[in-house]
Amino acid sequence: MLAKHMKVFFLASLAALVLAVILAAWGFPRIVSKQIQKNVQLENSSVMFEKWRKLPMPLTFKIYVFNVTNAEDINSGAKPMLTEIGPYVYKEYRERTILGYGENDTIRYTLKKTFIFDAEESGPLTENDEVVVINFSYMAAILAVQEMMPSLTTVVNQALEEFFTDLKDPFMRIKVRDLFFDGIHVNCVGNHSALGLVCGQLKSDTPPTMRPTEDGTGYYFSMFSHMNRTESGPYDMVRGTEDIRELGHVVAYKGERSMSQWGDPYCGQLNGSDSSIFPPIDGGNVPQRLYIFEPEICRSMFATLVGKTTVFNMSAFHYSISSDVLAARSANPNNKCYCRKNWSANHDGCLLMGVMNLAPCQGAPAIASLPHFYLASEELLQYFASGINPDKEKHDTYLYLEPVTGVVLKGLRRFQFNIELRNIPEVPQLAKVPTGLFPLLWIEELSKLPMYGTPGCRSSGQLPTRTAGWRKLHAGVLTAIVDCSFGE
Ligand SMILES: *[C@@H]1O[C@H](CO)[C@@H](O)[C@H](O)[C@H]1NC(C)=O
Ligand SMILES: *[C@@H]1O[C@H](CO)[C@@H](O)[C@H](O)[C@H]1NC(C)=O
Ligand SMILES: *[C@@H]1O[C@H](CO)[C@@H](O)[C@H](O)[C@H]1NC(C)=O
Ligand SMILES: *[C@@H]1O[C@H](CO)[C@@H](O)[C@H](O)[C@H]1NC(C)=O
Ligand SMILES: *[C@@H]1O[C@H](CO)[C@@H](O)[C@H](O)[C@H]1NC(C)=O
Ligand SMILES: *[C@@H]1O[C@H](CO)[C@@H](O)[C@H](O)[C@H]1NC(C)=O
Ligand SMILES: *[C@@H]1O[C@H](CO)[C@@H](O)[C@H](O)[C@H]1NC(C)=O
Ligand SMILES: *[C@@H]1O[C@H](CO)[C@@H](O)[C@H](O)[C@H]1NC(C)=O
Ligand SMILES: *[C@@H]1O[C@H](CO)[C@@H](O)[C@H](O)[C@H]1NC(C)=O
Repeated sequence: MLAKHMKVFFLASLAALVLAVILAAWGFPRIVSKQIQKNVQLENSSVMFEKWRKLPMPLTFKIYVFNVTNAEDINSGAKPMLTEIGPYVYKEYRERTILGYGENDTIRYTLKKTFIFDAEESGPLTENDEVVVINFSYMAAILAVQEMMPSLTTVVNQALEEFFTDLKDPFMRIKVRDLFFDGIHVNCVGNHSALGLVCGQLKSDTPPTMRPTEDGTGYYFSMFSHMNRTESGPYDMVRGTEDIRELGHVVAYKGERSMSQWGDPYCGQLNGSDSSIFPPIDGGNVPQRLYIFEPEICRSMFATLVGKTTVFNMSAFHYSISSDVLAARSANPNNKCYCRKNWSANHDGCLLMGVMNLAPCQGAPAIASLPHFYLASEELLQYFASGINPDKEKHDTYLYLEPVTGVVLKGLRRFQFNIELRNIPEVPQLAKVPTGLFPLLWIEELSKLPMYGTPGCRSSGQLPTRTAGWRKLHAGVLTAIVDCSFGE
């Protein structure tokens, strides 16, 4: 009896060995194992599903703000001197609400993010810190008005003085808490026609960063409050039960199959995942580009394959943002349809290398870039006397994918928000300032797979290494996700 079992066991082992050799020779895996597929697809019974619906541990959301240290001098024409202050660290919780299942193997959901200040991780910094930053809503209003009626800027400025009480220059001195989440009051009470114009514009097309006050007399401006208050979506995402290679693909956002903001079918394409989930990678056919759809900037972006590496003792593919994504029209003709509106008297609607106009997307003349204008035109750096130092290590955006399951072992997303400071001779507050792209702050969003041995993880064993065989590895990755119960 026992001998028979031994024989079966031996044969099974031999078969497994042969299979492993064949798979190794083929390059992993031409055929993705049914077992893996079952565990990563978006279905109730899958191991991943619940972790995907409600992230077991928060992401880390960091904010770095640019404190202006020579505001008085800038007002008389000097180059800006900035000091980066941060990180202000928040825990970012994510939860999806499943709305239903659609045609063509899709799931429909909304995504809710909740931000909680992490005082411990923020060290000496507090939300009550006072900083001097460019007055974003003031510049946004001036730029909007100039675009709407250029000849009326002088008249309009009187209105803006009503609009922004105590207006003395284009900078504001505020608590970071107000800038990030609580909001800065913007007054809409007054009789001036231009004030009516600006407020009417805000009313008909309220940017996400503006929220009306309770009594309806004005607005609160803040950078991230809308992300904490509202859900994004609904998203329609492919579940991968029919074709695992399509797993995670966002096929519609808010019921639309492309983004209309750019007025162009190519730039409006929804490509790739919401960055939470990716299909397993077929070793014989590693994608050169990984597409990610970013609703906050109304477009898809991609990260380019850098190479194979090891993260947490597991083999992983390293993807990093490429300069092509935010390239100027001259360097990447495909980007021409993102050039929708003029953002500066010195440039046409198309932007310089490394920056992107968010106006069509956000209804406010915000300009996105990578932090410190990393991968952007050198021309942008010449505007500053100090404080802007692009650095690959600190300012890159990348992710590491575990190929067997398509799980993101570590992902880091970074963005900077800027607005133009424009010299306008008729406006006293702007008569002498130098024109340039002025940074406000930048953010970093970090997601990291909880690993064995990290606090909160039940198991303390080691992950099997790649040489342990793909089955064990796959089990290891899934166990690592499942066994690590983070939370309160
Ligand atoms: C998943 O489970 C929910 C309730 O638990 C159920 O309403 C839904 O129909 C299930 N979906 C599938 C595809 O089985
Ligand atoms: C920001 O700079 C101003 C001077 O321009 C300074 O008074 C203030 O303390 C700085 N804020 C922080 C948080 O360091
Ligand atoms: C499903 O796929 C078919 C064929 O590709 C397509 O014609 C149809 O519009 C799709 N349905 C939805 C809801 O996207
Ligand atoms: C985000 O919203 C929650 C309530 O939904 C609140 O408790 C929390 O303080 C808010 N976060 C910030 C940073 O304001
Ligand atoms: C900046 O904006 C705020 C609110 O929008 C306003 O109260 C303030 O007067 C503006 N200007 C300055 C110089 O702070
Ligand atoms: C606006 O105009 C009305 C009359 O047209 C006047 O009663 C009111 O005081 C004015 N308000 C301001 C803030 O000037
Ligand atoms: C969308 O993906 C296709 C390839 O799948 C690519 O050719 C195209 O350039 C992408 N579109 C955008 C806007 O990135
Ligand atoms: C941008 O502005 C320049 C002059 O300021 C003008 O010649 C050009 O046509 C404008 N482009 C667009 C797309 O509005
Ligand atoms: C990585 O693997 C080595 C050798 O296999 C082991 O000594 C080390 O503890 C492992 N590290 C982790 C984080 O599992």
